[in-house]
Amino acid sequence: MSNITVCSRFRPLSSKEKINHGDNVCVHGIDAETFVFKDEKEENFSFSFDRVFYEKSEQAEVYEFLALPIVRDAVNAINGTIITYGQTGAGKTYSMEGPSVLECDEKKQGLLQKAANGLFECIKSTEGAVKHTIKLSMVEIYMEKVRDLFDLSKDNIQIKESRVQGILLSDVTEIAIFDPAEALQILSSGIANRAVGETQMNMASSRSHCIYIFTVQQGLAKEKRVKCGKLVLVDLAGSEKVEKTGAEGRVLEEAKSINRSLSALGNVINALTCGSSGKANYIPYRDSKLTRILQDALGGNSRTALLCCCSPSSSNAPESLSTLRFGTRAQHIKASPRAHCKEDYTKNHEASHATKYELRERILNKMRERMELEDVKLLEELFILEGIFFDANSVEELEQAFEDVTMQTISSLHQAVEDLVCTTEELKRENKALKVRLAAAERLNGLQTEAVENGNANVLQKISDLLSQFVSWVRSLSAFKMPK
Ligand SMILES: Nc1ncnc2c1ncn2[C@@H]1O[C@H](COP(=O)(O)OP(=O)(O)O)[C@@H](O)[C@H]1O
Ligand SMILES: [Mg+2]
Repeated sequence: MSNITVCSRFRPLSSKEKINHGDNVCVHGIDAETFVFKDEKEENFSFSFDRVFYEKSEQAEVYEFLALPIVRDAVNAINGTIITYGQTGAGKTYSMEGPSVLECDEKKQGLLQKAANGLFECIKSTEGAVKHTIKLSMVEIYMEKVRDLFDLSKDNIQIKESRVQGILLSDVTEIAIFDPAEALQILSSGIANRAVGETQMNMASSRSHCIYIFTVQQGLAKEKRVKCGKLVLVDLAGSEKVEKTGAEGRVLEEAKSINRSLSALGNVINALTCGSSGKANYIPYRDSKLTRILQDALGGNSRTALLCCCSPSSSNAPESLSTLRFGTRAQHIKASPRAHCKEDYTKNHEASHATKYELRERILNKMRERMELEDVKLLEELFILEGIFFDANSVEELEQAFEDVTMQTISSLHQAVEDLVCTTEELKRENKALKVRLAAAERLNGLQTEAVENGNANVLQKISDLLSQFVSWVRSLSAFKMPK
């Protein structure tokens, strides 16, 4: 059971930092894994990560340590996720894309370009693969909506979960790529579609989380089946406090939305790392689109690496410290967080108190621990064949059933409205007829009174005429159908 890989990276001081705050840096490296961090109050904190990349580190070093093992696994059908985290201007996008996806020399190419190259390289060297396909999708989460960066008309992509494939983006555009150069062209067109806002932290900082998804499919001749691995790269929006952005209006709303999703990410990490004993802990993945999309990456169904990007300037010490603390918490995430349950089971000897549900969970967790991801996938394939599990399409089937019920409900509502309209019309007609009868009766009553008072023969004649008119009119009305 391995933890997720967490590294930190300090970019060189920017010219603005040098001019405004001099050469004061808050990081003092000890070795490739440990450094001492000095905060605003000159207090020292020691941090250790899987690897620390200092100011002079090369892009290739970051790729080889952090990403290459995950890229290799993706080709072997093991999903992987690489996340860059940090305040705006800390070097997340630089680490991910370099100065520019298309126009930069090889030395400066970021994780994205190197991963695209790496996937093709690994596929070339994979034996037994008869056919491979790499597909690329790009989305960004902007104001809690998932936008397809290859088709801006899809501006609210839904997130779904399939038993076999895990978290899926419904109807997201997937573009097949056939070589690294083509991949870069396509990536660059997606990047051009990102939503951009300006803040004091970084004039062209992106105010959204950007997610790059490479799906690698391999048809294996011997085994007559398809292997599929996903490599997800996530360039998060800035983690700085809202006040520090100096944002107003729409940009302020963006900043709040970013902070909400990043704090949801923090909460998920807390829940994963502070699991209560004996029980499967509730993890609030559904609190934000970001955490829902990262559910597989954080929940153990994926190999995950986190790069915590920091400014080395003392002027940014509070934000860097908060980034490093985030990384420290993430270090405790297990690749399969439910392993906690197993340890507690053996230590606490509380099996006799466990419910049937808990016992089942423990047995499953034990099995999860022992089996390779590949074994789990094979078992799932088998269970689908046997009809024990629903297949990936079950989500679609479920949706179809839901749509059917909705349509039925809507059409019966339509019918009820139509019936109501008919009844109302009939009632209106009845009301009108009653009013006429009432008016006639009132007139008759008036004339009778007049006749009694005056004893006038003309008036009596008028009454008898009116009565006969009234009787014939009432007879004609009796044919009128009263509503039920
Ligand atoms: N390792 C690095 N080496 C050289 N320049 C860097 C490095 N990291 C970041 N920069 C520069 O710092 C600035 C901010 O970096 P950027 O990646 O855009 O920040 P973020 O994406 O975290 O907001 C950019 O001008 C970028 O070129
Ligand atoms: Mg950026």
